[in-house]
Amino acid sequence: MNELEENLMLPNGVVLHNRIAKSAMSENLSNRYHEPTPVLINLYKKWAQGGAGLLITGNIMITSDAIGEPRNVVVQDRKNMKILTQWANSVKGTETHLWAQINHPGRQAMKEINKKLKAPSAVPLKMSGRKNVSSKIPEALTESEILTVIDAFANTSLILKEAGFSGVQIHGAHGYLISQFLSPKTNIRKDKWGGSLANRTRFVVEVYRKIRAYVGDKFPIGIKLNSSDFQKGGFSEEESMEVVKILSNEGIDLIEVSGGTYESPMMMGKQKTSTKEREAYFMKYIEKVRKITDTPLMLTGGFRTALVMQDAVGSNKLDVIGVARPFAVFPNMANDILKGKRNEFQTRIKRTGVKAIDGMMNIIWYEEQLKRIGNGNKTNPELNGWLVFFKYLWLIVDKKIIEVFKK
Ligand SMILES: Cc1cc2nc3c(=O)[nH]c(=O)nc-3n(C[C@H](O)[C@H](O)[C@H](O)COP(=O)(O)O)c2cc1C
Repeated sequence: MNELEENLMLPNGVVLHNRIAKSAMSENLSNRYHEPTPVLINLYKKWAQGGAGLLITGNIMITSDAIGEPRNVVVQDRKNMKILTQWANSVKGTETHLWAQINHPGRQAMKEINKKLKAPSAVPLKMSGRKNVSSKIPEALTESEILTVIDAFANTSLILKEAGFSGVQIHGAHGYLISQFLSPKTNIRKDKWGGSLANRTRFVVEVYRKIRAYVGDKFPIGIKLNSSDFQKGGFSEEESMEVVKILSNEGIDLIEVSGGTYESPMMMGKQKTSTKEREAYFMKYIEKVRKITDTPLMLTGGFRTALVMQDAVGSNKLDVIGVARPFAVFPNMANDILKGKRNEFQTRIKRTGVKAIDGMMNIIWYEEQLKRIGNGNKTNPELNGWLVFFKYLWLIVDKKIIEVFKK
């Protein structure tokens, strides 16, 4: 018996049909107006046939005022219910759950495509090697803006529930707005939303409570949380464990563990370690978390072999295996693992050799593969990095042109 085949019942009674989940990957496949497209829906149809128990969408923006990438989907009203429903229905006829990841990027929004950047405090990003992301100083959110953002998270969740998604995941990791509130490095507020850990946690707790009030007890709400920011003076492992306890007591249904921010992108793994060490790189942290919560746990980052996945679940270190990049190249990988057809899923991107561009390649090379799948093409492990870069550049220029015409 393969441990990965087992059902998992979440605390609210919802059942995931196996232990393999596709973790969120920003698809960057909306149209110019941030609406879902047939290509995006085809991608999910293909993944739905691929056998994962859970598919989590790439981050969906909760407001058009704060967008991570030029072609992210935004859900802030009901004007696109028809196509959102088609997206939710992409898993119809399978046992796969489709959860929508919801996000506000805060200061980690591209300055090129956002009029203003808003964050807990006016602390700019300090990036090395990624020119496209802003080092512009963000504006600190006012109290009433904070409340508006909390409402927006809940509003988006309800719309997605109505469209037929079977759960939502709050993006609380990777240095986006929620993660910015949690970190003492990016949250230097002096009011009740900053300072002590209890105050810094207030935002995520209020977001969770508001969503719960809107969607009810039976609808799964998960969160992706950093084990740590991996930065001096940032959100630490100890603080992360406290947040796990708080959210568990609140009744959250699934906690996905990741780590890092744009400034310290540990979610993508340390590049200079052996392949073995690179596999499941937040494992040590999740083993500690296992001891302090009964909430189901998902771990993402580095899983590449069936053996390591089976061992992680079989030895009860965690409940769900999260996988991202391999799903962009091997969309059928969950079936392949569960049917014993293939055991290893390594991916190697084709770099350009230019450091500033290759930092982006970790994301945009995979997004181009997602587009290929959505267009009905085979994935291409040899895809040229320069080609991918110029296509992406065009999307940024195109978005800027639209903004100019809007004025
Ligand atoms: C193209 C791409 C887009 C991503 N977008 C998101 C996202 O929207 N939300 C998120 O939580 N993580 C995102 N991630 C991070 C992945 O979910 C995952 O944490 C990371 O890739 C490590 O897992 P892996 O080793 O299985 O790829 C993205 C990763 C890639 C490669």
